[in-house]
This record gives sequence, C-alpha cells and structure tokens, in this order.
Amino acid sequence: MKHLIDIRDLSVEELNSLMDTAIDIKNNPHKYADKCRGKKLATLFFEPSTRTRLSFEAAMYELGGNVLGFSEAASSSSAKGESVSDTARIIGCYADIIAMRHPKEGAPLVASMKAGIPVINAGDGGHNHPTQTLADLLTIKIKKGDFDNLTVGLCGDLKYGRTVHSLIAALSRYSNIKLVLISPEELKVPWYVIKDVIVPNNMTYVETKSLEDAMSELDILYMTRIQRERFEEKEEYERLKDSYVLNLSKLKNAKDDLCILHPLPRVNEISVDVDLDKRACYFEQALNGKYMRMALILKLLDIKSQTEETSVSEKIVDSIVCQNPRCITSIEQELPHRFKLTDAVSNTYRCIYCEAKAKND
Ligand code: CP
Repeated sequence: MKHLIDIRDLSVEELNSLMDTAIDIKNNPHKYADKCRGKKLATLFFEPSTRTRLSFEAAMYELGGNVLGFSEAASSSSAKGESVSDTARIIGCYADIIAMRHPKEGAPLVASMKAGIPVINAGDGGHNHPTQTLADLLTIKIKKGDFDNLTVGLCGDLKYGRTVHSLIAALSRYSNIKLVLISPEELKVPWYVIKDVIVPNNMTYVETKSLEDAMSELDILYMTRIQRERFEEKEEYERLKDSYVLNLSKLKNAKDDLCILHPLPRVNEISVDVDLDKRACYFEQALNGKYMRMALILKLLDIKSQTEETSVSEKIVDSIVCQNPRCITSIEQELPHRFKLTDAVSNTYRCIYCEAKAKND
C-alpha cells in the first residue's frame, strides 16, 4: 500500500511520471473521465481549506469517482473526542482513498497506519504539505522546463510554512539549486530542515531579511503568508504580518522570466497589481494542483494512466512474424503476432507470447 505523507515518499522518477500524467490529463481530460468510476475519495479536513479540499474533490469528480467527507473538525466525531486512529479505521470501511488535513503534525501518518487504504497528507500543522509541492513542481516544470541550476527565493513565514518545508525537500533532489531564504529572524527555516535536508544534500543556501536585495538573482520567487493561526502570541503576529509586501515597484530589478509562486491564500503579501504581470504564476499553480492530484489519485489507486498505457503500446509492433516453432502463434492461426521492444539500445524486439527474439534480416 502506498501513501503520500512526505514528498520524499515519491522518487524523482515517480514525480516525473506524475507530472507527465498531469500534463496529459490537462491536454486530454476526456481520456480520464471514467478512470475512477465506482471509487470513493474521503476528504477529512480538520482545518480550513479552499484549494486543497476542493481541488481534491474536483479531481475525483473529473476522474468519474465520488467524494465523501467533512470540511471541519466540528462536524465530525472528533468533536466528541474520537481519535485520529479510530476515525481512519472507520473511513477505511467506507472509502477507497483518504485525503487528510489536520492541525497536529504527524496525524496523516497515524491515519496511514490504521486506515487500510491509501492516505494522502493534505497538510499537517506546520510540518508538510506534499500535494502543494506537486502543484509547485508542475508549475516550475512548465515555466522553466527543468529544475536544475535554479535560484529559488522562499519569502515570508519559513518557520511554520509547511509548503516551504515540503518544497525544499523536493528541490533537494535536483542539482545545483540555490536557496535564498528570506524571512524575519523570528520566522527563519527550522534548524531541522537545514540540518536534515539542506546540508546533507549539499544545497547552496543563504538567509537574508531583505527581499529587495535578493530580487535580481531569483529565477523563482515563492511568496508565503504570515500565518496568524500558527502564532501563540497575537502581538507577535501583528508585528510581523506585513514583513513583506510584493508590488510592481519591488519587481523593477527582477528577471524578465522570474516565476512568482504562492501556495495561496494570500492576505496582503502580494499586491493585486502584480496579478496582471506575466511573471505572476500563482493562479495557474492552483489549477495545476488539481491535475497533479488527479495523477496522484490514479497512482495511489494503482490505476494505469493513459501515458503509461501509451508508453507500453508504443513499443509493441505487429509487423514481425514469430519464427519460434514452439510459440503458441505457430498453432493458433487467429492470434496476432506481436513483438515488444525490450532493449532500445540494441533495438531488440521479443515476442509477447514466447519471448523469442525477433530475427534480424
Ligand atoms: N495552498 C493551500 O493549501 O490552500 P488551502 O489552505 O486553501 O487548501
């Protein structure tokens, strides 16, 4: 059983495959309209959400499946004291896959141990938000073509910003990424992220308080909200909430092909005048989240995507006749002769029935 709790649960190859599938879904939605017929997604949201919950629900509907769930803890039996473990066990009886958001860090991991069905972390406290990272990665891939050699500025609440932690973990797999970590002193990236992710992966990073100073070197600028709900002291939130406000004048020194991302919701850290700038990619990023969640649901339910099916059938040819006298095709006259490319380097084709090599003429 596969779950998505941490973005590192997916290999780079799996991330690439999810992005290929998401792009194919975006271009050919009709091919996917029935892939999840008869399947149910449970959205268990113990914390508020607009994008993540509704894009998961839209994703499942667009795959032909159904959705059940709740959008706040108060409307579930957790309000009566039911544990996450018991909730997950029960939902495992009703649904095929779970997307869970919870204020406690590690809650989706606990659910994955009890549910008996795939569990997706849709955000756990200030910890991780791997499906937001899927949306971020697809947007970067579409805008930049690749991930290597990028200078990525992460700006705002880097301490409690779970999207930032997951994105850093994902980028740590690529080559020569430079991170520019822009935050007030109080909201710096937690030490464990630096010690366990950035340093062991030899990522280059600098920490700064100044967005203006960093602007000219950035390929990606990832703005984040200062999150009121994560502060214990209201006064500290009030003091820090307007630390960064991106507007058009601050973009004067930015690259022409800068890609501005934000997981959203924003409060006022990106002025609305930036929305019309061609470098603003955050609404497209939210749309890409739906396609990546569709690709993820297919993967975790082990439903072949169209790109996987195509890639197999593309390598099969029916123009070769099997010469093996012991092959079933020698006696079953109706069977089509079919050969599969098994080694692209030596151009070797093998019969799909008996595995005999095709004879080179
Ligand atoms: N980006 C994100 O997680 O948005 P929501 O809180 O609206 O789901």
